[in-house]
Amino acid sequence: MLIRLTTKSILLTTVLTLAAGTATSLAAGGQDASAVARGQEVYAAQKCQICHAIAGKGSKANPLDGVGARLAAADLRRWITHPAEMTAKAQSTKKPPMPNKYATLPAADIDALVAYLQSLK
Ligand code: HEC
Repeated sequence: MLIRLTTKSILLTTVLTLAAGTATSLAAGGQDASAVARGQEVYAAQKCQICHAIAGKGSKANPLDGVGARLAAADLRRWITHPAEMTAKAQSTKKPPMPNKYATLPAADIDALVAYLQSLK
């Protein structure tokens, strides 16, 4: 009897742990989706489209389509926070260059922008 109960409670614990794991990964997925949506808002509010195009919308001089597949998250972030350094590294001669004013955006907005850019694959 005692052994049976123990087996049952181990099973129950396992089931509960698995269920909790699923709930956690679902929540993480949901968070990603909202970060991407927030990033899209920040992109529009900061008028990145004055110089960049996504899906044909904005300035065709610097398309960002597929940038999430070409650049790692760290480099996407670096373009936002250290554009002069990245312009030199990429040997970009395009004018006007990427402005040096986004580093002071709230950290959560920069994270959201990076999530959005990463989603462009
Ligand atoms: C005044 C114009 C201008 C604005 C505004 C601007 N950028 Fe840029 N950005 C550039 C230029 C020029 C480059 C270099 C592109 C090249 O040489 O191919 C660049 C490069 C980038 C890159 C790297 C692209 C690649 O193909 O390697 C990313 C990512 C980027 N910008 C994101 C942004 C985001 C996000 C914003 C808004 C917060 C923004 N930019 C606003 C001009 C601008």
